Amino acid sequence: MPKPAYHIFVCTNERPPGHPKGSCGHKGARSILEKIDMGIEQRGLFGKVFLTTASCMGPCSMGSVVVVYPDGVWYREVKPEDVDEILDQHIVQGKRVERLEIPEAMWG
Ligand code: FES
Repeated sequence: MPKPAYHIFVCTNERPPGHPKGSCGHKGARSILEKIDMGIEQRGLFGKVFLTTASCMGPCSMGSVVVVYPDGVWYREVKPEDVDEILDQHIVQGKRVERLEIPEAMWG
């Protein structure tokens, strides 16, 4: 098995409705996961890109959260319609999608 060039984590954590923290699971995370999975196949990236579900990664209010390694890029408020841009621009071209990045200031 070849070592993947990229590893994409999608938070699919789901909290009960009305929970004060909210959750990515209530913001379309499963649709994002499925669209990334399909996009990897469609672009012939299987083996180059690994896709993994994750539980809560912290910035719940900014969900849905998607993280791309080895670049350590954290994307926020990702919608299914953003997936093609992440795959085409970041994974294929190697250029992060700045408009979706969690601001550096958030990390304190
Ligand atoms: S629920 Fe997704 S980051 Fe916390």
